[in-house]
Amino acid sequence: MGRYPGRRIFLSLPPEAAHRLAGTLLGLPLPWERLGGAALDPRLGVSIAGIALRNPIGLAAGFDKRCAHLDALGRLGFGYLVGGTITRHSRYGNPKPRIARYPERRSMANSMGLPNPGAEAAVRNLAERPATAPRFVSLADQDPQDAFVALGLLAPFADAIELNASCPNVSWGRDRDGEGHLTELVKGFRARTDKPIFVKLPPFTTDVEREVVLALARVAQEAGASGLTCSNTRPVREPRLRVGEGGLSGRELFARTPAIVAEVRAATGGALAINACGGVSTAAEALACLEAGATTVQVYTALVYQGPGLIGDLTAGLSRALRDRGTDVPAFVGSA
Ligand SMILES: Cc1cc2nc3c(=O)[nH]c(=O)nc-3n(C[C@H](O)[C@H](O)[C@H](O)COP(=O)(O)O)c2cc1C
Repeated sequence: MGRYPGRRIFLSLPPEAAHRLAGTLLGLPLPWERLGGAALDPRLGVSIAGIALRNPIGLAAGFDKRCAHLDALGRLGFGYLVGGTITRHSRYGNPKPRIARYPERRSMANSMGLPNPGAEAAVRNLAERPATAPRFVSLADQDPQDAFVALGLLAPFADAIELNASCPNVSWGRDRDGEGHLTELVKGFRARTDKPIFVKLPPFTTDVEREVVLALARVAQEAGASGLTCSNTRPVREPRLRVGEGGLSGRELFARTPAIVAEVRAATGGALAINACGGVSTAAEALACLEAGATTVQVYTALVYQGPGLIGDLTAGLSRALRDRGTDVPAFVGSA
């Protein structure tokens, strides 16, 4: 694990150049199914908000910000994919450099600031390519009217919407004032689409943060969300980033992820589906998230360090655990 063809080349390039190279490769007709090596075990199948998934491993938002390679990423074997985050209008994001790696800690900090081509270009990208796995689209706009326009354009091409209410690299949606904003957005989305709506929350460490996040979870629930994604990156200072701070992702987040899932699940009475996200890189960690009450597990940073074989490692490890227990994935959820 942790070695894939070209890994040294990727990790020797500046992070955004490596990401562009990955995008170029994903545009080629390479044997993605074989490179991903996902286990094809029917017992891995789960259903989330009425969407059938072949396995519970999802690609987290931000990897394919343009929704331009979801077809190839689906062929790798992910159970589902989150494209975006997309805003109504295109955005350049923050000044570069805006990704710093910590290879020894298998973590990264980013201050991307939601660069994306805008909703209309994302629609073209989605429309031009086949759906090889269910496609969720992540949306975020400060102005609810912009978010509603983006939703109207993208919902017909998405199996579900993930509302990014937690990006540490933009100014909105981060404090208690976020409750009113979140209510307006979720209610507005609910009124405009029948597709499942997930709300992506920030992580928490302190009691104050915990109170804010659990309040946001309840607000999302009351406003009609179908599920929650726990969590996004954690704010950190990093002088190598041009703006001096960003969001931490990767292994360092994992220690808190199952506990956050369990607390959010308890705060919402077990009524909302939860996607775990934050530092998952092994099947044992994915299993811990499912046992804490998550229905699916999203990954991003582990894909950078471990390459496409990550999907094979996670699905094969979960499949083995299922066989040993004589059960299937839904039976894991909340079973710890
Ligand atoms: C470079 C980078 C860009 C990201 N962009 C987004 C984004 O646009 N929208 C979003 O909701 N999350 C974004 N994320 C956060 C991830 O989706 C995920 O929540 C976070 O990285 C924690 O998961 P991980 O530890 O498996 O990477 C980004 C993460 C990274 C590393």
